[in-house]
Amino acid sequence: MPQPVAADKTALSVGEIARRCDIPVSTVHFYEAEGLIRSWRNNANHRRYSRHVLRRIAVIKVAQRTGITLREIKQALAVLPEDSAPTAAQWQAMSRQWQALLQQKIADLNLLQQQLDSCIGCGCLSLADCPLRNPGDCRAEGGTFEQG
Ligand code: FES
Repeated sequence: MPQPVAADKTALSVGEIARRCDIPVSTVHFYEAEGLIRSWRNNANHRRYSRHVLRRIAVIKVAQRTGITLREIKQALAVLPEDSAPTAAQWQAMSRQWQALLQQKIADLNLLQQQLDSCIGCGCLSLADCPLRNPGDCRAEGGTFEQG
């Protein structure tokens, strides 16, 4: 629960954050509930956000667009200071964490594209032969396979 603090004239309300980030107020609350951003309460018991939250939300939105999960975003943001604007070096250190992750996602999508190409026109969806139906050939390795 955010604690009341002295007035900060540069702080933003939840509505200002939502408007400037072009997201619903509910999304601001969701990001906060997920621990991605943080607020405090002013003397009127209203939530207030530091201006650097705008950049955190911009990064969250970009990361979500690239398919990075909220859990992965939270892990990356954890290396940044919560009470001050990160330096350029800190942002770069955080973004480097995502390079390998994005490379793996690109490799996975390329493989899926190749598998789709081989399956177009086939349509068998064979458990034994289809890489889309049986990714990683998990049946051959004695692993579990859930039919759906
Ligand atoms: S649909 Fe036949 S191999 Fe994938």
